[in-house]
Amino acid sequence: MKTSEIDLKIAYRFLYPRFTIIISSGSLSKPSALAIAWSTPLSANPPLIGALIASKRYSHEIIRKTGSFVVNIPNFDLVKETHYVGRISGREEPNKIEKAGFTLEPSNKITAPRIMECKINLECNLVDIINTGDHDMFIGEIIDIAVDTSIQDDWSYDLSKHQAIYWRQSKFSSDAYKLNVINEEDSS
Ligand SMILES: Cc1cc2nc3c(=O)[nH]c(=O)nc-3n(C[C@H](O)[C@H](O)[C@H](O)COP(=O)(O)O)c2cc1C
Repeated sequence: MKTSEIDLKIAYRFLYPRFTIIISSGSLSKPSALAIAWSTPLSANPPLIGALIASKRYSHEIIRKTGSFVVNIPNFDLVKETHYVGRISGREEPNKIEKAGFTLEPSNKITAPRIMECKINLECNLVDIINTGDHDMFIGEIIDIAVDTSIQDDWSYDLSKHQAIYWRQSKFSSDAYKLNVINEEDSS
């Protein structure tokens, strides 16, 4: 039996759990950072990513004004810090990044600083903003990638050495997809 008696406002929940990243922006002297679970690759060539950010977020204003952002991919050991930047707004707490326990460092090619503790940083120039409803999609072109060589592998990074964070409303997990991972060799 299937039911259809479901409020469409919660439709997005059926797309969870979702890969969680931290978007840092602004500058070293006036930074911003927030956790986002709504992001997607948009193109491989050119390398484009879409980050969905609600208009009331402080980061929304900062990225719009400054034109760049960094996609920082936290390991599961940074789950508390990640949750902090996803709960507290830079409008309420100007030192939120420091208070979360994160350290900022300069990026290679853009003004937006990157988060040192995250072993993967994708530097993006903002190329467009598209309104999608109650969120706006910030389209970024990735112009530089920094990866800690201790987790790097031939494809991108070694999943056993860097466990991404998955978010499902008030629950975090590092192994949400563990049971569903299909190796290329197994899938033929
Ligand atoms: C795990 C997690 C995922 C989140 N995903 C998003 C998201 O995809 N888009 C968004 O606008 N806010 C998202 N948020 C909420 C923002 O991170 C949160 O409102 C943050 O405090 C905004 O910070 P700011 O106002 O300093 O930019 C998420 C929060 C958490 C904890």
